[in-house]
Amino acid sequence: MIPPAPDVSALTNYQTEIYLSGLGGARPTLPTDLTRLEGLAREKLDDGPYGYVAGGAGSGATMRANREALDGWRIVPRMLREATRRKLSRTVLGTELPAPVLLAPVGVLSIVHPDGELAVARAAAELGVPMILSTASSHTIEEVADASDGAVTAENGPSRWYQLYWPTEDAVTVSLLDRARRAGYTTLVVTLDTWTLGYRPLDLDGAYLPFLRGVGTAIPFSDPAFRAGLAAAPEDDLMAAVGRWVPMFTGTALRWDRLPLLRANWDGPIVLKGIQHPADAVRAIEAGVDGIVVSNHGGRQIDGAVGALDTLPAIAAAVDGRVAVLFDSGIRTGADVVKALALGADAVLVARPYVYGLALDGQAGVRHVLRSLVTELDVTLGLAGYADVAELTSDSVVRGAG
Ligand code: FNR
Repeated sequence: MIPPAPDVSALTNYQTEIYLSGLGGARPTLPTDLTRLEGLAREKLDDGPYGYVAGGAGSGATMRANREALDGWRIVPRMLREATRRKLSRTVLGTELPAPVLLAPVGVLSIVHPDGELAVARAAAELGVPMILSTASSHTIEEVADASDGAVTAENGPSRWYQLYWPTEDAVTVSLLDRARRAGYTTLVVTLDTWTLGYRPLDLDGAYLPFLRGVGTAIPFSDPAFRAGLAAAPEDDLMAAVGRWVPMFTGTALRWDRLPLLRANWDGPIVLKGIQHPADAVRAIEAGVDGIVVSNHGGRQIDGAVGALDTLPAIAAAVDGRVAVLFDSGIRTGADVVKALALGADAVLVARPYVYGLALDGQAGVRHVLRSLVTELDVTLGLAGYADVAELTSDSVVRGAG
């Protein structure tokens, strides 16, 4: 059954709600400038979890390049146009989005909040925004689906996508896909850029890798095909289970010729995440996938890589509308979303801001982040003279000086 069209007003009425609530003395508990959340999370979180979320590869050059790329474009507003009633919704790969924003897959969320992915799923379902569940989650595929179903409102259907860290053992891959499909995940996002862990000094300096302690392993450890290869259950011999899982999802490069396995075992759309070169985008289309995520994993994998937004225009041109193009890495504001859409993205993924929201205020914090981001997108779109996100083109932005 196709879920009913999500109601966007719960996302976009935040500004009005805040000012009206202010008449009674209430103020938002978190800053509405989402760039301020990282500093607050720094004060709240221990070094290990903070470093894992905020850190990037090497010297952090790619994370800075992601921001420089976004800041390097400026929106050019148009005047005296009808933009009072705005349309943010669009359908991407059969999923009706209330706004062109999805929650990026982020693993091990229990390190920042005990409810982890469950709180994120509830906030997402409440607002009708799709969550992309990571294979490295702290809760199982089924638990997160239940949390999402339990939080669905009359207006908003559940909408969940599943992100695969692709195991080297096909039986485990097939089992994960089967579980995701049965639990109602509609779209498969396959992450290509993390076949081995990036060099991340904040994690290295703290010798902090949650997976080695069995955190972020709920999905494989609850998987029958994975458990079948263990002499003892993970509950009885944690290190043996960790020793089987870590090399199974990291350390071995994937190849294009393995993609048919996914197509044979997944009947919904397949999206490849981590595309940075137009030739790889074309290759993905030739391989028969339905979409790509232009992403450098938030600067967590390669130091000194090109800012993700700088790769988007050429990739969008090469794709030329043949498959869906999503974008992430560095999105922090509504204006950032406008820029990415103008340069060819159908929708964006956001990661760290909602993780900080989760760390600071659980489900309510994720909700705050989504409402702030989409409200700012809505206001920015209207003030720039656009009534519909579909009207944005490369003509809506220019490169700024310096
Ligand atoms: C990630 N990301 C990620 N991606 C993925 O495909 N599977 C995963 O499990 C994770 N885990 C993860 C953990 C943490 C703590 C972060 C910050 C990121 C990458 C994520 O999906 C996304 O590509 C980038 O983080 C987007 O950049 P921003 O929005 O964080 O700048």
